[in-house]
Amino acid sequence: MPDPAPTSVSMETLVALCKRRGFIFQSSEIYGGINGFFDFGPLGAELKKNIRDCWWDDMVRRRDDIVGIETSIIMHPKVWEASGHVAGFTDPLVDCKASKQRYRADQLFFAEVVVDGKSVGYVSALESERTAEALQEAAESLKRKKAIQGKLEPVAPRDMTEAKPEEIALIPSPATGEPGSLTPPRSFNMMFQTNVGAMTDASSVAYLRPETAQGMFADFKAVVDTGRVKLPFGIAQIGRSFRNEITPRNFIFRSREFEQMEMEYFIHEDADWAKCHREWIDWCRGWLVSIGLPESHLSEFNHPREKLAFYSRGTTDIMFRYPFGVQELWGIAARGDYDLKQHEKHSGVSQAIFDEATKRKIVPHVIEPAVGVDRIFLAVLCAGYAEEDVKDEKGAVEKRTVLRLSPRIAPVKVAVFPLLKNKPELVARAEDLHRKLKRRYAVFYDESGAIGRRYRRQDEIGTPWCVTIDFETIEKDGTFTLRERDSMQQKRIGEAELFALLEEKVY
Ligand code: GAP
Repeated sequence: MPDPAPTSVSMETLVALCKRRGFIFQSSEIYGGINGFFDFGPLGAELKKNIRDCWWDDMVRRRDDIVGIETSIIMHPKVWEASGHVAGFTDPLVDCKASKQRYRADQLFFAEVVVDGKSVGYVSALESERTAEALQEAAESLKRKKAIQGKLEPVAPRDMTEAKPEEIALIPSPATGEPGSLTPPRSFNMMFQTNVGAMTDASSVAYLRPETAQGMFADFKAVVDTGRVKLPFGIAQIGRSFRNEITPRNFIFRSREFEQMEMEYFIHEDADWAKCHREWIDWCRGWLVSIGLPESHLSEFNHPREKLAFYSRGTTDIMFRYPFGVQELWGIAARGDYDLKQHEKHSGVSQAIFDEATKRKIVPHVIEPAVGVDRIFLAVLCAGYAEEDVKDEKGAVEKRTVLRLSPRIAPVKVAVFPLLKNKPELVARAEDLHRKLKRRYAVFYDESGAIGRRYRRQDEIGTPWCVTIDFETIEKDGTFTLRERDSMQQKRIGEAELFALLEEKVY
């Protein structure tokens, strides 16, 4: 795959493409939509499935040390007490009493406006790529509005978790622009609650899982007892997770229902965890590149020691350069033996296993790579999207929109065209090839419009190859034209060669 220039596509353009071509729709759109929930259309469902399948194949099937499981979305509520989610899976929430808007306190920034050393008020802004500039502009505007003379000091942005109690009433709400309506931050638990069974009292409370990881910990002993696994080994899972995010945003980047691909890699308590952690970071980066993400868009962020949970040894996020900034794509955490020990304590069931090498019973430690399918989905669209000036058959310059998706994940692998739709012999041959390809691959048959237009339609949805059946195919050696999406180069190949190409590139 070529390493394209830094992504400059706007989210507006991407969202429009996703809607126009049937990748993603707002959930329940006919009723006005529901914030933080999305539906995947025909092409989106294929692309998402391909991302999942590639991960499962590489993470589980092609390795001897990792097994895959599928656990229920609703688990015993004690699981979430043991994991710490009931007490601590919270975000700080600020309400605006006037507008009824809710904000995540760590995403709502404010600054004191100081002129000639004297405080003259406060300004606020929601977190963005230019929070500091927005606050500085708001401070200048406040000074002008109040007609205050003197030197405005540069603003010092803080978020609402850092506001002193006496400052809260002075900070303007971003919704109304007026102070006095924001509440102090309070903890808001992000787990969706439900009730199991006919009763709706406290005894029936359960939660939609906020992560898939606890399924692997809760089933750890069951897998060990049945799976013939020995340290080091991993348990992987793909599944839906649910978080009642205060501010879902950036399209599918932060939503309330999403899909996770998580793996818990269990290692001996004496193993070199830092080495193993690094190996998994490298594996994850390599895997992202293997499905078409350019290295140039990836970076790493090491969580500072002081911000880590007490049990955590280290967490590194693989970051991706989205149009709205560099953001977390994949978190790789070294969690020690915290999770298994917590479940041991809360369930009363020992989580220790017998280690053949040391002839001792131990509770293993864990390295956890955890990623969201939806974030990868968005990343491949952002990195793959391009608009180019190209020449049509008559030499006129036109714009083409192209999605440079890796053949591994492209929703359609090959499009098959008969050169002309009114020539039965061309159509019959094209239909025959389409039928053969369809048995193994997602393919698309299109006979309407000029060939150039048919190419453009496929470029826009990321189809790596188009095949055109022409008169040479039926009159000569059976070869057809293969047109490659990124280079737009064409060459003649036969059926066996096409299948060999697909075998090599689609794995
Ligand atoms: N078990 C660890 C865990 O769940 P996390 O960092 O909260 O860690 C892991 O989530 C990954 O799941 C993130 O790196 C991100 O890719 C994805 N993710 C988390 N919250 C999400 C949301 N609200 N919407 C979409 N993806 C999300």
